[in-house]
Amino acid sequence: MSHFPVYRARRLRRTATLRRLVRETRVTPDDLILPLFAVPGEGVRRPIASMPGVSQTSVDELVADAREAAGLGIPAVLLFGIPDHKDETGSSGAEEHGPVQEAVRALKLEVPELAVMTDVCMCEYTSHGHCGVLEDGEVANDPTLELLAGQAVSHARAGADLVAPSDMMDGRVEAIRGALDEAGFEQVPIMSYAAKYASAFYGPFRDVAESAPQFGDRQGYQMDPANGDEALREVMLDVQEGADILMVKPALAYLDIIWRVKEATGYPVCAYHVSGEFAALHAAARLGWLDLDRAMTEALTSIRRAGADMILTYWAREFARLAG
Ligand code: PBG
Repeated sequence: MSHFPVYRARRLRRTATLRRLVRETRVTPDDLILPLFAVPGEGVRRPIASMPGVSQTSVDELVADAREAAGLGIPAVLLFGIPDHKDETGSSGAEEHGPVQEAVRALKLEVPELAVMTDVCMCEYTSHGHCGVLEDGEVANDPTLELLAGQAVSHARAGADLVAPSDMMDGRVEAIRGALDEAGFEQVPIMSYAAKYASAFYGPFRDVAESAPQFGDRQGYQMDPANGDEALREVMLDVQEGADILMVKPALAYLDIIWRVKEATGYPVCAYHVSGEFAALHAAARLGWLDLDRAMTEALTSIRRAGADMILTYWAREFARLAG
């Protein structure tokens, strides 16, 4: 390889056209999934202070947001539900007429060109806010599996195109795959939150999903941010259990994990650019400390460059507008 002064790397950076030609990574609306939050009722739109542009919405408003996303070329939304009642076992999560199930039905009818994904977890539905049922004050793995499977089947029954378990219980992909197949939904894929870390960056999400744990934290089931090899073990288990898409979460602080998961599996990889990452950049921009459009573009580009095929991001619409 030739070197200076024969090779000058700056030659290809001199003009916008040359930079465009040699650009290696592009983010397009095709790569993005928009998270949406469904609440019961009608005409409800409750903005979340810590997440500019994100609201809790009733089904009618949620359909309007989803329609806008589809119009901008975004292929998919992922739904979270906030129920009007919570109990110890999160029973409202599997209700036929829960906010997620109703939103799925409405979207399949009114915005059929959109893929509708659903988050499967207990923390939005349990009174204690943990991602599973409790036994002796601890989240009990195996009894939780059946409840997760029930919730996933109820989403599929409503018409969900894909289910995405985010609880981090061991064996949930197998349990959900089995239950879906048994109920006749063998064509519904599972996007597994395979490597989900016990992260400080979920704070704003817990405001919008009203899912903060009422005691303790999630370190007993979500991963230690210090571990990378363990992420590969988690991912391999989910592959063996039948996961179709592997998720790494959060994204920006875990770009190495995205890279390793893609290299090790060759599976479709989704990265969740989570609420705290989004809120931090917004807050800095509000203070005038950085340029939001550029920071957003750089963040999303870096996630793609690390190997993510798709990005779950609250910025899906803003980015599509900017790109369009
Ligand atoms: C639920 C869940 C969480 C997020 C997605 N699904 C929160 C958590 O684990 O506490 C976080 C998403 C975000 O911060 O944007 N298990």
